[in-house]
Amino acid sequence: MLSGKSILLIISGGIAAYKSLDLIRRLRERGASVVPVMTGSASEFVTPMSVSALAGEKVHTDLFDLGTEAEMGHIQLSRVADLVVVAPATADLIGKVAGGLANDLASTLLMATDTDVLMAPAMNVRMWEHPSVQRNVALLKGDGIAFVGPNEGDMACGEFGPGRMAEPMEIVAAIEAKLADGPLKGKRVVVTSGPTHEPIDPVRYIANRSSGAQGTAIARALAALGAEVVFVTGPADVAPPDGVEVVAVQSAREMLEAVEAALPADAAVMAAAVADWRVKSESTSKIKKVKGALPVLEFEENPDILARVSQMSDGRPGLVVGFAAETDDVVGNATAKRERKGCDWIVANDVSPATGIMGGTENAVVVITEGGADVWPRMGKQAVADKLAERIAAALL
Ligand code: CTP
Repeated sequence: MLSGKSILLIISGGIAAYKSLDLIRRLRERGASVVPVMTGSASEFVTPMSVSALAGEKVHTDLFDLGTEAEMGHIQLSRVADLVVVAPATADLIGKVAGGLANDLASTLLMATDTDVLMAPAMNVRMWEHPSVQRNVALLKGDGIAFVGPNEGDMACGEFGPGRMAEPMEIVAAIEAKLADGPLKGKRVVVTSGPTHEPIDPVRYIANRSSGAQGTAIARALAALGAEVVFVTGPADVAPPDGVEVVAVQSAREMLEAVEAALPADAAVMAAAVADWRVKSESTSKIKKVKGALPVLEFEENPDILARVSQMSDGRPGLVVGFAAETDDVVGNATAKRERKGCDWIVANDVSPATGIMGGTENAVVVITEGGADVWPRMGKQAVADKLAERIAAALL
């Protein structure tokens, strides 16, 4: 787990700072040591005394603390940790780091560190959605800083939406994933999962029966092997796994946009059941029932995300894995699909109702590569995912 790992935990000033106290406990329970740093405003929300008592360590607050400088300079403080975690990360601190400012201990440490950084943002929903915050977060992601959350929900300020800090256990899972020492450490993988919803009007949509179970299991398995996973999911029945970056989408076009934004990556696994068609002219108001006149829906084709990514001339992931849901001649159809789409592997399964696979807990797959078809026995979806993740790790070595 986390035994022997050292976390430099920067607590900035937000109401969510109370959750950082629990985070410290959870980390220490798992064997990690926590060196706490608080910004000036953090101590308006939790006391340095509580933080220090829970961490079993001195709290660092001041850039010009002569005592600390004599024992260990602040630059050094930022480098001895295995991971720097900022929880909560306020809009102010995110903005400082994005802008290259270093005028207090927290921002100076973040500037001076050569260690990986994970941020758990927490702020009012309007602040989170503000273009400047979104711009800063995108900049920091581009610089290699990882994020967990924020989650959507009721906020201390009475509003609802994204901005709530991730729960302590979600942050722990993200930390474990960052520090996981598996064969996929340092590899970035994009996973699509779940169905897509294609709107007909504001209240109706076209969907399919995908539960998202197989894609979720794959993302979990890849993260457990140390991969940095971007999990692009349609509205699925199962909850996303811990320790991955979740991008929630509705339609095929949103999914394509999210996948493109997540690239470059070392591998892409397209497990989503993307709707092949969307309604051509989505109605902006609810279609009313008219006696004697049935509505006629005209369709147009959705972008094929797997084919687009497989056929990228620039920046194609080194390994692209697609899925094929078939009801007849599974190997023949899936082999042709691999050729047609241009992906490296196709994981094919028989989704005839009699198999109970679609929406069920088990899967029986055939993995089709350049070398031919490899038939796997029927097993649980997590077991399929674990085996596939091992195979992906071997291919990316
Ligand atoms: N896929 C995709 N974008 C689409 C349709 C499918 O990325 N618009 C991906 C799926 O995620 C899956 C693979 O393509 O990895 C195969 O999807 P499937 O629906 O089985 O194949 P189709 O190309 O739609 O072929 P058909 O429906 O004719 O079997």
